[in-house]
Amino acid sequence: MNEKQRLASQQIKQPNSTDVKSDANDNLDRLKQMSSDDLISRYFQTTYEPPNMRKAKKRLKKDVDIHYDFEIPEEMQNIGEGKKFMIRTYGCQMNEHDTEVMAGILTQMGYTSTDDTHDADIILLNTCAIRENAENKVFGEIGHLKPLKTENPDLILGVCGCMSQEESVVNRILEKHQFVDLIFGTHNIHRLPQLVQEAMFGKEMVVEVWSKEGDIIENLPKQRKGNIKAWVNIMYGCDKFCTYCIVPYTRGKERSRLPEDIVQEVRHLAAQGYKEVTLLGQNVNAYGKDFDFEYGLGDLMEEISKIDIPRVRFTTSHPRDFDDRLIDVLSKHDNLLDHIHLPVQSGSSDILRVMARRYTREQYLELVRKIREAMPNATLTTDIIVGFPNETDEQFEETLSLVEEVGFESAYTFIYSPREGTPSARWEDHTPMEVKKERLQRLNALVNQQSADTMKKYQGETVKVLVEGESKKDPDVLSGYTERNKLVNFRGPKSVIGEMVDVKITNTKTWTLDGEMVESAVEVN
Ligand code: SAH
Ligand code: SF4
Ligand code: F3S
Repeated sequence: MNEKQRLASQQIKQPNSTDVKSDANDNLDRLKQMSSDDLISRYFQTTYEPPNMRKAKKRLKKDVDIHYDFEIPEEMQNIGEGKKFMIRTYGCQMNEHDTEVMAGILTQMGYTSTDDTHDADIILLNTCAIRENAENKVFGEIGHLKPLKTENPDLILGVCGCMSQEESVVNRILEKHQFVDLIFGTHNIHRLPQLVQEAMFGKEMVVEVWSKEGDIIENLPKQRKGNIKAWVNIMYGCDKFCTYCIVPYTRGKERSRLPEDIVQEVRHLAAQGYKEVTLLGQNVNAYGKDFDFEYGLGDLMEEISKIDIPRVRFTTSHPRDFDDRLIDVLSKHDNLLDHIHLPVQSGSSDILRVMARRYTREQYLELVRKIREAMPNATLTTDIIVGFPNETDEQFEETLSLVEEVGFESAYTFIYSPREGTPSARWEDHTPMEVKKERLQRLNALVNQQSADTMKKYQGETVKVLVEGESKKDPDVLSGYTERNKLVNFRGPKSVIGEMVDVKITNTKTWTLDGEMVESAVEVN
């Protein structure tokens, strides 16, 4: 008996495809007679605790444990040999990085990665819940993948990420997409080996979503996407509870990694030859607030600036917690890049108040003034929501005027999307969708104009580019980003990939720059 057979014999018998079909029909009949609570608690193999929105706000800061003892159970260590996995990622950098962790775990289990769904033995959808259209995309994809399950009943199809933290989503999958094998939450990623094991050898859909926000698990393996730029989590979760936002419920409370663990990870990346790290958190300026010693983002950045890594970025900043110490540190060290993504959301103090952003238009502008004073070259970018419930024309005009006044070089703009369970989703909204769409267009036109104007200033200038690889459109063209986060396309030898080169800008577009490499600046080996 081989390892897999031994394991299988200890578990529930593995279903064959006929079992799967008749089970599915039985399931459907039983499901129709059950309430959603019944569904979750009685029928499925599950540890499901939906995030409790009322309790979430009362959560305590300090009961977070840090674990350094992650390991893959022996019987799962080679289970993936000869098999492939595919992870499709939606949402923010946080999710992108979680995907790297899951890829790391699966790789340690012997799996290799594939981009071809037909080739995959495990498909995971790492989902985002931030807006309704993000969720719709995922449900569309689940539907597309269904035929693969019929073709290959051994395929494990899993849904993870932020959507899995929502009760309504879990219910919908349980009711309408029973061919899904596995649902797990953002706090359960380190349990992937056990979950795959259960999905492989159990008959039932495996649902494991913990509402208790995760502890910090330190030594998870990571399979990073490239070898030039790397993401490094510095904290998890968010305690800001902006009234429109689902993140504090899907990601749990704020918890910071210890400085020494972060510094060690960045040192290790530098030693491996990485040229850029981006420090990640939903609200990085709250870094360290949960420690019982005085230590903040400024202190951490100071520490990291001493590491021999050419570029350090961080995202996302919250204006409320952006302090003078951080501005001071950023202005002093060349490897801490002067690009600050500082989501404003609205230019109207009244809207900001109902969003619970905890700053006014004036306070935001004052912060921008301070940043510019200390870092005259700083690039500021932002996120903006239009059509927050009952936003008036005047309030929207205030957003436009703030965009102009700050001179954002680019912005992510969104139409407000009500998220179930958040306070603002319960509010009546009298602003018609047509009006919201028109506002978004006007805002986008302004942002595009500002971006194009910024780009024009680069004509004839020489910029430093970290070369990332061939451009997506033309393999003869290389591309990379400047310190101020502008994408540059230029012709050059492939040998400069991964290097920092000087590029003279010859043409400017709305979002990108074209240029020619300044040969003398390149070291020829
Ligand atoms: N933590 C970051 C943002 C995380 S979400 C911050 O606070 O800045 C990324 C962006 O999505 C937000 O900045 C916001 O502009 C947008 N967003 C969040 N919830 C939204 C909603 N319900 N509808 C529309 N946009 C939303
Ligand atoms: Fe959401 Fe606000 Fe937290 Fe950002 S700060 S993740 S917008 S609750
Ligand atoms: Fe989406 Fe979750 Fe990120 S909701 S934006 S993937 S934190």
